[in-house]
Amino acid sequence: MDTVTIGIITLSDRASRGEYEDRSGPEIKKYFSERIKNLIEWRYEVIPDERDKLRKILIELSDLETGLICTTGGTGPAPRDITPQVTEDVCDKILPGFGEEMRRVSLQFVPTAILSAQTAGIRNKSLIINLPGKPKAIAECLGAVYPAIPYCLDLIGAPRMEFTDKGNNAFRPPGK
Ligand code: MTE
Repeated sequence: MDTVTIGIITLSDRASRGEYEDRSGPEIKKYFSERIKNLIEWRYEVIPDERDKLRKILIELSDLETGLICTTGGTGPAPRDITPQVTEDVCDKILPGFGEEMRRVSLQFVPTAILSAQTAGIRNKSLIINLPGKPKAIAECLGAVYPAIPYCLDLIGAPRMEFTDKGNNAFRPPGK
């Protein structure tokens, strides 16, 4: 079984200054640790909501063949929320279905789900997915799109993910 590499980037001005502890990044780690059987190599950064910093890290991580990169935070309408826009800039291809489905499912939990411009896309052999900044939003949003992540990674040539019992709602077409 291959080792899979997962990048987690938390965007938060205050967490990056140490004013509070990031809780969303660890939620992402927990979500995948419970569902993926492979050995996981984690790349984790907490950065301020700054375009150039995010751009640089997304490019670095995808150049290092980080199969899956999840961002958390900075997807809303406030002036410093820039995550989806930078994601769109660095990606070769956008996969709008991820954002659509995350917002659709999130609306069942919170009426403000439409405020998130979260999206996803491919750069090199990396799938980049935006998640909102609230810890409870992580499982809500990943629950909506997780089933499609392993096959998406297969299609872009990233290492194959194998699942635990908890992760076996992931879908691969028969024979894949
Ligand atoms: N989606 C889910 N699943 N759960 C949430 O609590 N919060 C919403 C929305 N999407 C939320 C959610 C709110 S209140 C905002 S402002 C936007 O995500 C953007 O959040 P962000 O700027 O922290 O990314």
